[in-house]
Amino acid sequence: MIIGKPLFTTQNIQNRVIELAKEISTDYEGKEILAVCILKGAFMFFSDIVKLIQVPMNIDFLVASSYIKTETTGEVKIHADIREDIRGKHVIIFEDIVDTGLTLKYIKDLILSKNPASLKVCAFLDKKTHRHADLEPDYVGYKIPDEYVVGYGLDYDNKYRNLPYIAVFKKESS
Ligand code: IMP
Repeated sequence: MIIGKPLFTTQNIQNRVIELAKEISTDYEGKEILAVCILKGAFMFFSDIVKLIQVPMNIDFLVASSYIKTETTGEVKIHADIREDIRGKHVIIFEDIVDTGLTLKYIKDLILSKNPASLKVCAFLDKKTHRHADLEPDYVGYKIPDEYVVGYGLDYDNKYRNLPYIAVFKKESS
């Protein structure tokens, strides 16, 4: 198993997170947000971006899974749900990566059923090639090609989440 060269370096990531935080701070000026981190993958992105968003916020976490190693199971499991009251809140979901969109679609529908004032999605990476769900994130860090990536929170078999950069992961040398 091989970890390729960084696709996005620590410096690239920091710069893009600053830009996204500015955009969100401008869009939500005068409002309070409920920032929801989708675990485990978004933990690094979330902790970086919430420090830079300049509007008042509450924070919550939702633990979901749908992948085994590099393959989607097509079935989303919620292991721990949001505990904050969602009704009437301006909710932003922070996700590590959108691939088929099935995970996010499931989570969006779950949150929408609890009547938020508004709901937007901020995904650090957007891999459009396999998109099944009719869903576009409102804020995107980077669009990426059809490669399996690890680092900056993203895993293969729950490993490599701690890499401070994002790299392409290959199962065998080619
Ligand atoms: P989707 O439901 O197919 O959009 O997949 C979304 C979830 O799959 C993400 O939250 C990740 O946990 C995982 N995932 C999808 N692509 C990758 C990848 O390239 N690397 C690591 N995890 C991924």
